[in-house]
Amino acid sequence: MKNFEKEINKRRTFGIVSHPDAGKTTLTEKLLLFGGAIQEAGAVKSNKIKKGATSDFMEIERQRGISVATSVLGFEYKDIKINILDTPGHKDFAEDTFRTLTAVDSVIVVVDVAKGVEEQTEKLVEVCRMRNIPMIVFINKLDREGKDAFELLDEIEQKLNLTVTPLSFPIGMGYDFKGIYNIWEKNVNLFTGDPRKDIEDTVEIDDLNTEELDELIGSEAANTLREEVELAQGVYPEFNQKAYREGNLQPVFFGSALNNFGVRELLDCFIEIAPTPRPKESDIREVKPDENQFTGFVFKIHANMDPKHRDRLAFIKIVSGKFERNKNYLHVRNGKKMKFSSPNAFFAEKKEIVDISYPGDIVGLHDTGNFKIGDTLTEGEELQYRGIPSFSPEYFRYINNADPMKSKQLSKGIDQLMDEGVAQLFTLELNGRKVIGTVGALQFEVIQYRLEHEYGAKCTYENLNVHKATWVEAENEKSEEFKDFKRVKSKFLAKDKQGQLVFLADSQFSLQMTQDKYPSIKFHFTSEF
Ligand code: G4P
Repeated sequence: MKNFEKEINKRRTFGIVSHPDAGKTTLTEKLLLFGGAIQEAGAVKSNKIKKGATSDFMEIERQRGISVATSVLGFEYKDIKINILDTPGHKDFAEDTFRTLTAVDSVIVVVDVAKGVEEQTEKLVEVCRMRNIPMIVFINKLDREGKDAFELLDEIEQKLNLTVTPLSFPIGMGYDFKGIYNIWEKNVNLFTGDPRKDIEDTVEIDDLNTEELDELIGSEAANTLREEVELAQGVYPEFNQKAYREGNLQPVFFGSALNNFGVRELLDCFIEIAPTPRPKESDIREVKPDENQFTGFVFKIHANMDPKHRDRLAFIKIVSGKFERNKNYLHVRNGKKMKFSSPNAFFAEKKEIVDISYPGDIVGLHDTGNFKIGDTLTEGEELQYRGIPSFSPEYFRYINNADPMKSKQLSKGIDQLMDEGVAQLFTLELNGRKVIGTVGALQFEVIQYRLEHEYGAKCTYENLNVHKATWVEAENEKSEEFKDFKRVKSKFLAKDKQGQLVFLADSQFSLQMTQDKYPSIKFHFTSEF
């Protein structure tokens, strides 16, 4: 066994995804409580955008402050090193979440028992499904009236396109919620409504037919449970770890995060079944975590909250080997050797300088502008991790310089904000004008505010009618067809920051017409194809 294989096997790096309000923050906090990483409830701040309280950008600054602290929450539980990567639920930040999902080895999906599958859950689960990320579903808020368990399982299968297998089953719900039968551990947990007491109330039940069950929860509830569990076991496939790890089967747990109920069961099962750090594809080969040479990639960049210090924190997921402090590594994109004297590791809400980190870990590196999202670090091998594509933004505006004396500051600011992944920049082929594309309308305000406060530059926006940005791939760049396309559509062509050609279609109709007219040209909705 290699000397650090034990370290790899100890690690579980995952993300929790949900529609806002389903209970992601509450669940995260309860998991941290089990790990002893925090002492009391309320310690983890929600990174939700609260509407109405303050102006939008102040709210985003608040959120940004919190999200530095909660970007990576590490803790130990039963000798397993767990890293939870934070994923914003707000739809305007969906792209941050997509990028973070490139750094997780598995995911827990939280669903509200009353609301069922919601829009953001659908989008995020689709991304996980496309990448075969193993998922566990946690149905939350069982202390409230909600949908019937079978109805929910059905809805999850249909709307999320998953194959589920319940590993726990609720006994009643809302007012009548009595507890949970843990199919995985074969025991009953009774709900007392007292968040501190649930753990003592685990009763081992090897056989659901035992009379003890009737005594515990009453004959009616006991019989209903027997019938339902039998039905569930008849309808749903048996749990199979291989299928789960390949993304083909999703176990489901029920509980109430707020009441700390069903959370320990989830965590105990999670550390048993969830994958250790997984291999990752690069442009030249698949890289395995137990390889001796270090490799890793940047999946997130966080600007310093103090505008006077413009340094940033780049979050690196370690894919293989050991990452060591003060050792020289190759920044593959720009061919530079770099070493880092103070890499940060994350424990609960604290950062600490670490000497060695292992696959699955996230390190935060101080950066003065060398990194952008997707960059790869290695010990010398020229490989690049793929899989952090840009998606077409939803909103587009021209960005203009409002202070001619500060044009340098403006371009530097725009450059760095784009590297952080705040928005995308397109430069029009025809006249060099700059267009900013964002996922949400809020980002325009953020960019304006941050340009002014961090870079001393002022900008204004101008409306521009764009429906979608599509990345252009020509079968043959020398063909008459491609030349014709470039000439006819010159007004709508731009380059993204990587220099890739992008067609900014002004309507669905014109996109369709263009596709029909130029069949040898492909129009992609993401930058990686
Ligand atoms: P999010 O991060 O997914 O957006 O959700 P969050 O944990 O912030 O939870 C959203 C709301 O749902 C919170 O109430 C939280 O207390 C509540 N909640 C979470 N889990 C449960 C549960 O198991 N049962 C019940 N009944 N409620 C639950 P809030 O009023 O919006 O916020 P707060 O004032 O309590 O913080």
